[in-house]
Amino acid sequence: MAAQQLVILGGTGFVGSHLVPRLAADGHRIVLLSRNREQHRALAVLPQVSIRSADVYNDDVLRDQFSGADAVINLVGILNAGGQHTFQRAHVELTRRVIAACHASDVTRLHQMSSLKAGQGLSQYLKTRGEAEVLVKASALDWTIYQPSVIFGPGDGLVSRFAGLLRLMPVLPLARAKARMAPTFVGDVAEAIARCVNSDKLGQRRSFELYGPDILTLGAIVRQIRDAAGLHTPIIPLPDSLGRLQAQVAGLLPGKPFSLDNFRSLRTDSVGKTDGYAALGIVPQPFAPWLPRLLQGPALQRRLNAARSLRR
Ligand SMILES: NC(=O)c1ccc[n+]([C@@H]2O[C@H](COP(=O)([O-])OP(=O)(O)OC[C@H]3O[C@@H](n4cnc5c(N)ncnc54)[C@H](OP(=O)(O)O)[C@@H]3O)[C@@H](O)[C@H]2O)c1
Repeated sequence: MAAQQLVILGGTGFVGSHLVPRLAADGHRIVLLSRNREQHRALAVLPQVSIRSADVYNDDVLRDQFSGADAVINLVGILNAGGQHTFQRAHVELTRRVIAACHASDVTRLHQMSSLKAGQGLSQYLKTRGEAEVLVKASALDWTIYQPSVIFGPGDGLVSRFAGLLRLMPVLPLARAKARMAPTFVGDVAEAIARCVNSDKLGQRRSFELYGPDILTLGAIVRQIRDAAGLHTPIIPLPDSLGRLQAQVAGLLPGKPFSLDNFRSLRTDSVGKTDGYAALGIVPQPFAPWLPRLLQGPALQRRLNAARSLRR
């Protein structure tokens, strides 16, 4: 398929930093809409990628930015609400605006990021994901919905976050340690989206569950991270009564490292049924072999920092 003009919302984060180079390698021209382009200038080093500051909640702005595009990719998603950044606004209201702006600017193709188990369980995160999917499916657009389990890879919030906690704390109390998930590699997620972008037929008006080959409990994931990092921090699975309490307290801390809504999301196993990767001809990568590489960066950085502090 010929090179396309793509507009991506939420493309400045973890998934976007892998997806954008993948799409650029296919020759597509990419416009990234960001709430603050100055924070993400590094992404625009590729010649056919530009990044623009834009109020993505403004219908006129969206319509103007979408004008002339072949497809829109909506990657915006939040794990924690705060202030005006509610799940309803970021997931549902924004999706409604994106669909309307697609119609207003004659863009017919929408790629929508969602989550495995969208619309299920009790968390606002999954509930609003489901509501957004309903809007997309009810639209007249040629849509594709991507439903990943938890995503790992360079720059993720999974391996680096737990490795940091395991290094910092003498003991790690872990809520919902029995929650099951199928971690999926960010490069595979990017490949799935790229294949659908590159095809006239593949994936139109279709959802893809994207999950890795291993079903692991959260406890097993954290143990694997600990062992691969060469740490010995004891991991204490918490009963739900204490896990909920931990979430309530952590939800009050700056940056909300864990929240009641995260706790509720973890009550729904992030495990799929229909192999979206198989449908797209992708063999998904397992979690464990990636761990040494994912842990190497921060460890190297730590050693460099330690060496620098010794020289001062
Ligand atoms: N990472 C995972 O494990 C995982 C698993 C399943 C699904 N997903 C979904 O995949 C998508 C990408 O995930 P990610 O890990 O790359 O997320 P991310 O690193 O947090 O990046 C998301 C981007 O969305 C924009 N954004 C954040 N809050 C926003 C808000 N309130 N309104 C509008 N834009 C906002 C930000 O861009 P600017 O600051 O430039 O505006 C940010 O760079 C999300 O929809 C996420 O829910 C992720």
